[in-house]
Amino acid sequence: MSIATQETTGLPTSEPNTHPYSHELAWPEGLEPWKVVDDGSQGDPYEHYTWMHRNAPVVRAWTPTNDVWFLAAYDDVKMAFRKPKIFSSEVVKPVPMTFLTLIDDPEHNRFRQVIAKAFTPKALQAFAQRIEENAEMLLDRMIAAGGGEVVEDFAIPLSMTTISALLDVPAEDHEKMKFWSDETFSYFGRLARNAPGTGTDEQSAHDFWAYLKERLEVLYAEGSESMGGHIARMWKDEGILSEQEAKELCSFVFIAGHDTTTILLANAFRMASEHPELLGRIHDNEEDAERFVEELARYRGTVQRASRITTEEVTVSGVTLPKGAVVRLLNAAANRDPQKFEDPDTFDIDRKTDGHFGFGAGVHSCVGAPLARMETVASTLQLARKVASVTLDTDRPIEYVRGNNLTNSGPEKLYVRLEARRG
Ligand code: HEM
Repeated sequence: MSIATQETTGLPTSEPNTHPYSHELAWPEGLEPWKVVDDGSQGDPYEHYTWMHRNAPVVRAWTPTNDVWFLAAYDDVKMAFRKPKIFSSEVVKPVPMTFLTLIDDPEHNRFRQVIAKAFTPKALQAFAQRIEENAEMLLDRMIAAGGGEVVEDFAIPLSMTTISALLDVPAEDHEKMKFWSDETFSYFGRLARNAPGTGTDEQSAHDFWAYLKERLEVLYAEGSESMGGHIARMWKDEGILSEQEAKELCSFVFIAGHDTTTILLANAFRMASEHPELLGRIHDNEEDAERFVEELARYRGTVQRASRITTEEVTVSGVTLPKGAVVRLLNAAANRDPQKFEDPDTFDIDRKTDGHFGFGAGVHSCVGAPLARMETVASTLQLARKVASVTLDTDRPIEYVRGNNLTNSGPEKLYVRLEARRG
């Protein structure tokens, strides 16, 4: 462990014989100490992760209310995902809303069963064609314009139309839903993750839930086959969900499913630009699109961290965390741990990606992963079929999501030029 020799930050010093704080560590030049709330220095956090693997697999960050412990090593993250009784998801008590990632079993399982029923292969198949058609239409538009901004022009419209179709929300409400969803995510981050919030997020969350309640009533009356209809029946016919649980669960699925996928889709364009040979390879061997997406989820996944709280004292990488420690499992860092993945900072679609944590692991692992994979594979295939090269616009560098204080990381703006494939 390398410890900084000077205290220049104005932040507190760790007590003798305790684990040093992040701001006391000797981070290399150009790398800000790791923080709980991102100030813009953690938009692309992979250099931090590399340093953590070599120097500090457990990082303790100070906040005015509590310490937050970050775990970067693959084995530690795996152990924590696999031991939900010790690494509880109930970081806020009482649980403030029906968000699965904030709830432990057995309650968690009741909600998970409801959602998992809507993710059968048959149910997903119903979306395949619509996703392909949308991806093709959006990409054609970008190609005709010679390129554009991937997040706004491609990734948001594709992920929003998909998640809205899943829940059966009218197309004309997309914009309002996106606003409410971002605000509700902010409210959730404020309650659960030391995030600053927007000032209007609590009110927006309540507006969102009121809207969803109305929508569930309509879907119930119509007998909709969508996930929204299914949730409405679990509430009204089966009594498995209360009204409050039903509308909050709907909002959670919406939030969990669109921003995450948006970023992964944008990262697919980015990796196509960094590895120009791959588009040709996938064009000739379409089955390689799945390898590309799996490596993408390992190498530049969207969700960087999962929040937990310890229910007893536990030791990780030789560091003892007290009972009640607020912990972030850095799943994206674990995906770059050289102890698990050889040459982890190389994007290699031929590697064995088994065991990566791009979609989490254990009882809370992502239920929507098959849908996210379907969207990203369909988009990669469209790119390979129609585009000869993706080039990043050097005049307009990538702008990163400032959401690192919450969970997600990746491009918020990604400007590209697209050259159409001929023949
Ligand atoms: C690229 C896209 C996605 C990524 C990277 C992703 C990642 C994750 C991760 C890492 C978790 C685990 C969180 C934890 O352990 O605390 C998770 C949970 C979850 N995800 Fe996803 N997700 C994606 C897309 C989706 C989609 C499309 C949906 C739904 C339509 C979805 C629904 C969920 C749900 C419901 C959970 C909670 C599972 C539970 O707590 O039992 N996700 N996701």
